[in-house]
Amino acid sequence: MATTAPTGSPLSQPSLTHPPPPRKVTTVKALSELPGLSSIPSIYTFPKQTYHEPVSDTKEPIPTIDFSLLTSSHPGQRSKTIRELGKACRNWGFFMVTKHGVPERMMKAIIEVCREFFELPEEEKRGIGGKHVLDPIRFGTSFNESVDEILCWRDYVKIFQHPEFHSPKKSPSFREIALEYSKRVRLVAREIIRGISESLGLEKDYIDETLNLENGLQLIAANLYPPCPRPELAMGLPPHSDHGLLTLLIQNQIGGLQVQHKGKWVNIDPIPNSFLANIGDHIEILSNGKYKSVLHRAVVNNRDERISIAVPHGPALDAIVSPASKLVENVGNPPAYGAMKYKEYLELQQGTMLNGKSCLERIRNGD
Ligand code: OGA
Ligand code: NI
Repeated sequence: MATTAPTGSPLSQPSLTHPPPPRKVTTVKALSELPGLSSIPSIYTFPKQTYHEPVSDTKEPIPTIDFSLLTSSHPGQRSKTIRELGKACRNWGFFMVTKHGVPERMMKAIIEVCREFFELPEEEKRGIGGKHVLDPIRFGTSFNESVDEILCWRDYVKIFQHPEFHSPKKSPSFREIALEYSKRVRLVAREIIRGISESLGLEKDYIDETLNLENGLQLIAANLYPPCPRPELAMGLPPHSDHGLLTLLIQNQIGGLQVQHKGKWVNIDPIPNSFLANIGDHIEILSNGKYKSVLHRAVVNNRDERISIAVPHGPALDAIVSPASKLVENVGNPPAYGAMKYKEYLELQQGTMLNGKSCLERIRNGD
């Protein structure tokens, strides 16, 4: 899930007038399984200077939020946790969530069914779902394989879970496991979003009600990063921020996620049995820039297959997102972002290459 583009101006629009000819792109899984593969096609090579800056050796741990305290009936504990949550959103935009109550076996099971999905024959996977960002089931490679100038070393499947539940027919075991997993994760996400709302000085249910989270968009975005013979040249996912409000991510114990913090890339190794949470562009918009969605990227390695399951939670597709009026008036700040329907934002993001926060920049009001 993401917003962005490796080269060129994100605002130039040649592709709108001259759509590129359709390309037949193979999946990275098929490519990585070619016998004796020791290099990578040049279309997977990212410019060194842009994407391979050194990684910070900071020992500063990313914040951890104990979910059981967020839901605690003890008011002191809850308000302390909300303060910590606000600090995590301001300083990092990323945090671990522990004691969330989602059973570990469910986390393992969802990774397993997604892995099984990626094992399906190429033609079956390719035959699944549509190509448009609003199609409820989408399988593909890179970010947007029809516009990406450089391809990412990842395959993905994105499946809408809410407000309507979808499941790929080719993968019968997915249904039961995903239904349960998505339901449990959605409860956790909505509660964290209530905490974020309060941490901004808004009513607890302000975000939930204003953006109609009862009908909020939730999807399972499963990423497969096969081993890559030249990991230093390729990128799993280039730097981007996520659309929506809150993404909760788990992975198969293989690292690769890096988060930008204080201008440096930091390796994040999630603690087993916890979620890695990050705020998306629509929290940045709603908070009028008080909380920033943070750039992150996925790097690849030459040994192990990595699977991550990101579950983004967004507003209802028809909800119009704009800075909360209370935050705008109180600080005397003009709204920093224009209002936009969530659905239109998704289309805007998908129509361009993944490039940092270029999508959000488009609706930022001039200084
Ligand atoms: C994403 C994402 C990171 C990862 O899917 O938006 O940032 O580690 N994934 O797979
Ligand atoms: Ni992301």
